[in-house]
Amino acid sequence: MTRPLVLLLSGPNLNLLGEREPDVYGTATLEDHVATARAEADRHGLDVEHLQTNHEGELVEAIHAARGRCAAIVINPGAFTHYAWSIHDALAAFAGPIVELHLSNPHAREPWRHTSVVAPVASGTIAGFGADGYRLALDATAKLLGADGA
Ligand code: DQA
Repeated sequence: MTRPLVLLLSGPNLNLLGEREPDVYGTATLEDHVATARAEADRHGLDVEHLQTNHEGELVEAIHAARGRCAAIVINPGAFTHYAWSIHDALAAFAGPIVELHLSNPHAREPWRHTSVVAPVASGTIAGFGADGYRLALDATAKLLGADGA
């Protein structure tokens, strides 16, 4: 039997994790975070497909392609969080649970990071827990899906 698929999306500049502002984002690489997400998903009988892109349109297309194919979406939209209404609209057309994820706590940072255009269409947000956020996000997704062991 095929296992439910969770689409994990990583927005701009997250490819630089590990090198980029380690005091804010930690020293783990995106590859490390994806491995954490996959391990947690596996524990719940879920599979993870991951895409990182620096392009807004690619995220929109990936969200469209998830319709009817993926059970849930976990998304760290990077700076797109704060202004990319096209991502808001694409997510609004996705039927399953959506978890917004951030390594840092944007609300404790510059005022322009306090707005999320993704939050209104997300089931919930996990922010400020650093690398542990990937495990928490997949655990929350499993619970929303009523997956095994959740
Ligand atoms: C981020 C927070 C955003 O404000 C920022 O632009 C990022 C990363 C986070 O994971 O903490 O690129 O989404």
